[in-house]
Parts: sequence; structure tokens; C-alpha cells
Amino acid sequence: MCGIFGCVLKEGEAAPLIHQGLRRLEYRGYDSVGFATISDGTLHMRKDQGRVDEVVGRLGLDKMPGSLGVGHTRWATHGAPMMVNAHPHTDCENQIAVIHNGVIDNFLELKEELINRGHVFESRTDTEVIPHLIEEEMKGDINIGEAILRALRRLEGSYAIAVVSSADLERIYCARNESPLVIGVSDKGTFCASDVPAMLPYTNKVVYLRNGEFAILEREGFKIKRIQDGSAVEREVEEVTWTLEMAEKQGYPHFMLKEIFEQPKSLRNSLRLQQQYLDLLTAFLDRGRELFLVAAGTSYLACIAASYMFSKLARLTTYPAISSEFIAQYGSSVGIDSVVLAVSQSGETYDTLKAIDHARMRATTVLGVTNTVGSTLTRVSRAYIIQQSGPEMGVAATKTFTSQLMVLSQLALRLARTRGKVSQDEVDDFEARLLEVPVYVEKVLEKHGTSIRSLVEKYSGERLFLFLGRGISAATALEGRLKLLELTYVPSLAYPAGESKHGPISVVEEGTPIIFLCPRGETRREIVGSIMEMKARGARIISVCEEGDRDIKELSDDVIEMPLGIPELLSPIPYIVPLQLYAYYLAVEKGLDPDKPRNLAKSVTVP
Ligand code: F6R
Repeated sequence: MCGIFGCVLKEGEAAPLIHQGLRRLEYRGYDSVGFATISDGTLHMRKDQGRVDEVVGRLGLDKMPGSLGVGHTRWATHGAPMMVNAHPHTDCENQIAVIHNGVIDNFLELKEELINRGHVFESRTDTEVIPHLIEEEMKGDINIGEAILRALRRLEGSYAIAVVSSADLERIYCARNESPLVIGVSDKGTFCASDVPAMLPYTNKVVYLRNGEFAILEREGFKIKRIQDGSAVEREVEEVTWTLEMAEKQGYPHFMLKEIFEQPKSLRNSLRLQQQYLDLLTAFLDRGRELFLVAAGTSYLACIAASYMFSKLARLTTYPAISSEFIAQYGSSVGIDSVVLAVSQSGETYDTLKAIDHARMRATTVLGVTNTVGSTLTRVSRAYIIQQSGPEMGVAATKTFTSQLMVLSQLALRLARTRGKVSQDEVDDFEARLLEVPVYVEKVLEKHGTSIRSLVEKYSGERLFLFLGRGISAATALEGRLKLLELTYVPSLAYPAGESKHGPISVVEEGTPIIFLCPRGETRREIVGSIMEMKARGARIISVCEEGDRDIKELSDDVIEMPLGIPELLSPIPYIVPLQLYAYYLAVEKGLDPDKPRNLAKSVTVP
């Protein structure tokens, strides 16, 4: 989950562009930074532990000479975050610099072999085998491009890499297997980066490198080859429609707050899905005996919520599955009659891709919901839908969750119509309310967008929170808890409220704050019972409930009032918004950076 940026320019210095590019990639990892540039026939390299701006300032990275160079922001997988483990890594002669995102599975064998051949290693990283392998291949008196190709053929695992070398003063070489890499072309030169927003200031013309491909970037353009046999690949340049403005903060102090406030807009976009894609996915879903919703993190929590919609509205047996557990849990039972719908904002989450690889091998129909056009998920799915929430730069997912649910609700609705197992009136009502969801979210933001800060201040010293909900609101509780945990590091528990008496109740003591999700609907009577149980044990109750819900209000110490008329099955979308705001403001109150929570990365492209 590191970030890669490289450019080969027709004129001007590469280093300031690399700096800007890495700033936009910092969400992918931010424990160390390094640059390599080429000028006057010499490879220059500097790196250290720290965040992008800090390391660039301290080491003067943006003054490094040369119109060609690469940079890396790291999220440690092998080797602690320290200077020797920062990228770029080089060969014994310091002539070949490599930056890498991914994990080389066979690096220990390769390292042993290279050490036996006399190579000296400095770091504990898997990456360092790559420059040494290239160096070894170059002893065969072949050009660097060919040597890189041969070295790549020996690697097992995931990688996006970029290589510069004093053996070729004109080119950057890159390759991809399972980790994302995009090439950008413009009249200024040629770029490569881990994702599109990093290069948006320079170009919107991009080419997505695919697994098993190798690319040569030159000032005037690029060439792509297959790693396996070196054969040439022709690929069309695509134009992305995201503007730079869309990818930047627009006056908000943090990306996360901007993205929370953007939700009415992103939800409207997610409502404008092309009908033929919804029809296609629905047709595949309808053929399934059972549906697995496979995802990680927040996307998985959206899947839990969506599983209630598919089961209730479409009467399809639906299992939400954590992608890293999917093979162990369901791997031997999925088959030709199952459907796997993988949900991933990035479309590159390693565990999710592994799960669907397995499902495909068992002839299971694999479908996808993602935010990233051209991502691996879009290529390996039988059919997919883009959730249309635009770039999300905050590491913690916010608009991703609500947009994914918007897409999944539309699919559940369409499938409900196709299968005809619930009444027409019920389905029509669901559709009418679904169209109102962006308005509900707008109202929530108007009412609580800033005022929720007083509630945050009131409970800011608490050392433990509980989040409880029933039915579909159990998923909202889990996502509210995840946001609080990720952003504020305050330990917190989330449970289906009915399950709370089978253990979690033991942590409740006088004053413990419990956030209850209480939309109107089928589960309301039971949630009132759960509130009373917790109140009897001295808990302080913060309820998220409908405006004017007097019963809940009377039982609560504080309430977060929600607009009238939100049906329970759609409640996770508006009801998560105050919890996103709560986590955001508490992080700010604690002096933490909500856009970059410690130890986390936006896109987990390693096992
Ligand atoms: C949480 C968060 C992560 C991601 C998870 C899956 O705020 O952002 O938990 O949801 O890494 O990522 P995608 O959706 O890209 O597969």
C-alpha cells in the first residue's frame, strides 16, 4: 500500500512534480519517503523515514536535479519504518533504483541466491531483491529493459514497480502484477502513478497497466509489453473525467469533512447508474441459488447492511463475507449456482481479489461494485457497476459506504421487482424513499454538520464507547464504531443489540456512553428494551432516532434527531452520517489528523 509516482519530462525538473504527486498519494502510506532522479549521467537518490512534506523539506528532495525521476511513499510490510528500509532500493553499485508497492512472496529464496552470488543487502525489505536481480541479469551483457524483464519473470507475488538507472538516462521502466499502476501522457512528458488523482494536475489521459505487463516510459510516449514473452501490447489512452478540483479539499480543513459533506452529491450520482448495467447484474443475481457479498473493512460493513435488503426485499439467501475469510469459510461450498458480488472502493484490495479468483475457479458467477474504472475488479468480474462516488482521499471511507449502499439498494430493489416475492406496494414505496435519500442526508448535514461538536465535547474524555443497533442498524453500529476506532483510537465495541447481553454488557458501568441506533421500524420495540437494560446498569444513552420520537427521547441522555420518514431498510445511509461527523470532530478535538489515521492505508493491496 505504498504510493508510486514517476515522470520523464520534455523540459523542467522532475522533483517538484514528484513531491506534489506523492502528497496526493500519501493516503496510501506515510511512514517513509524517497526520490531517485537522473541528471548528467548520474543517479541521485535520497530517502528517509517520515511524512512527505517533512522529509522533502528536511532532505531538500524537491531540489534534486533532473527531468526524469521517481518517488515513493511507504507503508511498511517487510522491515520497520526506518531509513534503510525506505525506497528506492538499489543494487551493489548504486546504479539501479527501484520503488515498489506490493509483496514479493519468494524474496527469501531470491535473497539467499543473490547473497551466494556475492550481492550485499542493506535492508530487511522484500523489494531490495529486485535491483540486485536486475544487476545480476545485466551481467549477461543485455540492455537494462531486457534485464528488468528477465528479473520480473523470477518474481512471485504482487508488485507495481518503477525503475530508473544510470544505464539508461532517458527512460523509466515500470511493471505491474496485482498492485495498481497507471500511466499518464501529456505534452509535458510521460507519468506513472499508483492512482489517477496523483497525476491529474498534469494530465487526464491515462492508460491502466494490467497484471503481467511491463511499460517503458519515454519523453514522447510509452510502450507496453507482456512480461511473460516480451510481446508488444497495444492499449488505447482513456480520458478520465475527474477534475483536479474534485480530488482536492475545496476549502474544508480535511478531505474527510469535505467527503462527508459531499454525500448528497455523491449519492445523487450513485442514483444515476446506467439502467442496462443494473439490469445485467440483476439478471445474474436472479440466477443464483445464494448470494455472497464479499468485501473488506467498511465495504464489508456495507455488505452486512445490504444482506438485509437482498434477503428481505428479494428473498434471496445472502451471506456477507469478509474477503480474507471467504476461502476458508465458503471456499469449498461455492459453486456454479452461487453468485459472488465483490464490493471494493479501490477495486484492488488483495484479499477481495484473492477471494474472487477462488470463486471464479469454481465456476461461480463473479460480479463487482467498485469506484475505480479500470481497476482489477472491473476486469475479473463478469459484470460490474461503478459506484460513482468520485475520488475519496481521506483514508477512512465515508462517501464510499453510502454510495456502495446506494448501488446495492438499487440492485436489491430491481431484484425484488424481478422475483416478485414481496408486494408491489412495498417495492414502490421502497423506490420512492430511495430517491429521497440524498435529501435525507442533506437535512442531516444541515442539522448536525457543525452542531454535533457540542455533543462530541461533552463526551470527549470517555475511554470506551458502545454502539448498538438491531436488524440492519447493527451494520450502522459496526460502521459507526469502525470510524470512531480508526480516527480517534478510542476502544469501542459494536454489537447487534440483542447479542449485547451475551457478553458485552459486562463492560457497562456507571456512566459508560452507549450510542443506540433507533430508526422507526420493525426493530424499534426491541431496541427500547435494550436501552432499558443498559440504562438499568448506569449507562449514559445517546440515541440516534427520528425527530419527535418521545419514547426514545425520554430514555436517553442525549439524542441526535434524524429527519422523518426514513424507512428502516434505508436507514444506514442517513444514520451513519452523524456518526461519521462524531468520529471526525472527536479526532480533531484530540489533535489527530483525521485524513491519515496511524497504521492505516487507503488501499490494502498486500496479503
Ligand atoms: C475504513 C476503510 C477500509 C476499507 C477497506 C476496503 O474506513 O477505508 O476499511 O473499507 O480497506 O477497501 P476497498 O473498499 O477499496 O476494498
